[in-house]
Parts: sequence; C-alpha cells; structure tokens
Amino acid sequence: MVLCLISSSSIFTLQPGRSRCLPKCMGVQNNGRYLMKEGDVTRHKIIPSARVDTVGLEVFVVSDLHTEYSENMEWVKGLPSKGKKKDVLLVAGDVAETYEKFVLTMSFLKDSFEHVFFVPGNHDLWLRREKENFVDSLQKLDKMLDACQTLGVETNPSVIDGLAIIPLFSWYHESFDREKDITGIRIPSLELACKDFRACKWPDGLINGDNSLAAHFDAMNDKNQDTVQEMLARCNQIISFSHFVPRLELCPEKRMLFYPNLPKMIGSDFLEARIRYIHGARGSTKACHIFGHTHFCWDVQLDGIRYVQAPLAYPRERKRRMNGGEDWLPFCIYSNSKLTESMSPCYWSDYYASNPRTPDVTELAPWVARFYGKL
Ligand SMILES: [Fe+2]
Repeated sequence: MVLCLISSSSIFTLQPGRSRCLPKCMGVQNNGRYLMKEGDVTRHKIIPSARVDTVGLEVFVVSDLHTEYSENMEWVKGLPSKGKKKDVLLVAGDVAETYEKFVLTMSFLKDSFEHVFFVPGNHDLWLRREKENFVDSLQKLDKMLDACQTLGVETNPSVIDGLAIIPLFSWYHESFDREKDITGIRIPSLELACKDFRACKWPDGLINGDNSLAAHFDAMNDKNQDTVQEMLARCNQIISFSHFVPRLELCPEKRMLFYPNLPKMIGSDFLEARIRYIHGARGSTKACHIFGHTHFCWDVQLDGIRYVQAPLAYPRERKRRMNGGEDWLPFCIYSNSKLTESMSPCYWSDYYASNPRTPDVTELAPWVARFYGKL
C-alpha cells in the first residue's frame, strides 16, 4: 500500500511486479501508451552496495520502514552492525506507527550506522495505537525529536566529511495536484481513503485538507536557515531529504493508479521551493534529494536535481516488486566522494524515461479500468 488508505490491502497502488518481468497489466499495449521498450524489461536485481569495500564516507538511504510489521522490524535488526566503517543512513520517514516502536527501530539503526538522520512521515505522527497520552500529533513529534537527540539521531542539517546533509520537514497539501482529474468512476474521497484524517490529531488552526499543515511543517525548517546558508557557502556536495514528494512528476499519472487521487495527498510545493533554494533553480551534477511516502522506487534527474526514493515498504509490496524482495538493503547514494550510479531497476522512473507524461489523457489504464469494473 502506498499510503494510509482505507484497506490494508494494496488495491490502491501499483507496484513493480516480480523480478525480470513486467506486470501482466503493463504488458498490455493500449495504443502504445503503457508499453515499455523491450530493453527496459531486462532488469538486474538492485545491488544496494551495503558494506562493500570503499574508501571514506558512505551514505545509504531508505524510507517507509513501517516496523509495526514484524518482518520489517526483523529486517532492521538484521542489518549488519557497524565495524570501524564510517557510514551514514538517511531515514526518510514512516518508521513506525507507535512511539515505542519508533524508538526501538531508531536505536537498532543507530547500532548499525555511525550517523543516522531522520525526518518524520505521516505514519510516525499517528495516535490511534498510542498508549502514551499525547495531546496531539505535534506533541508526539516533539517527543520523537527528543528521543532522536537522546539516541544521537540527527534531525538537523549537519556536515560530515565535507558532505552537507539537510533534513527537510514537510507535509502534503491537496493543491499540489494540478493535473486533470479522472471522472466517470466512483473514487473514494480523500477523507475516506487516507487514514491521516482520523489517525492524526492537530491543534487549532491546522487541518488536513488545506495548506496549513504543509506551511506549518515547512516553517519548521526556518530555524536552520543560517546553518543552511553557511553550508551552501562551504560545501560542494549537498544531499537533502524529506518524507513527502516534491514534484508531481515523481508519481505515476492518475489513470495508472488504483487510487487516482493519490497525487492529492503526497506532495508539497513548499518542499520543492526549499529544495531549489538549496540546490539552485538549475541544480547541478552534485544536487540530490531523497524522498519517500509513495513506496515507488524512483531515481531520476529533473531540472538538474537527482530525486531518489528507496523504500523498504510493506512486506507484501517487497514480494511483488522486481528490485530486491527480501534481499532489499538500504541504497548507497554516496561513496568514494561522489554520488553513486543510478538505482536500477526503478519501475516507474524507468517507464517515464521512455514515455512522456501525458496527464491530459484520462483513459484508464487497463488494470485500473478492470478494478473499477469498466472493462
Ligand atoms: Fe508516508
């Protein structure tokens, strides 16, 4: 499942299929719109390059750990412990639904990596299973950030061996989605589809559904403005990261999604503005932003910035996707003093490398049409 949707099944999402083959639904040609080139189909398993012999600092990334799933917690526990190696893990949100599991997960990760950075995701701020009596989700966030400080987990920008790492707080807003809506099928409302509306609780003035939460979380980055300015002046290489999605192009188009309104609850324009402030309007060969939330593996260059998502995701999603399954490890984004090669395969970013984005086309993809009883 991509988000926190109605059902615990993955019916609203489309994830890459089993290794070395396209999902059957993608093999169906529909006026050429969904067909990938033959060359794109032959894929190699992701080699996340964890703990390979390299010199100097290595930076690994992962998002959407969801350790309320025992399989995912076992995965975290099974990560190799650090030896003498200096390495960094960027955790791009959605670690666990409860504070207790969050603390446990982060302490395991801190055992495995010398430096761990974290930004919160929506699931981290859910209250529905909390034994603790949090007044609201922001109070829970404060307590999580305190726990990070105690554990030695970084939540503020920091420079390690000349590499600047900048965590960015964010939240989604509906107006992020500017593409044509799908009509003619009964799509559940956002309030029904997204559990955040019920599982989070906000103080007066903050509402899921307008821009207030996105603006609030974005403003949390202001306190680091001077630090970021200083980093921009003295660091050649900068990696920023967030939980939410900074650009619409980092999500499949609506007609291909089981929940076509997904783009309304994934991203933030405030976030992209922050990223451009950091990396420049035109980016550079060294500009990189890591994100999470949608559980789609992604690795693409857009307007001079490399955007990467490497989610652990739910156990059932890992079984289905072609790149890694249970062998999945954090993806190495930086080693030998430079960004690493592109993650491969990344189903949807590979697809868009060969196919233009045509959001004005609203004819449903065959698998979506079938799901809504239109085939
Ligand atoms: Fe999320």
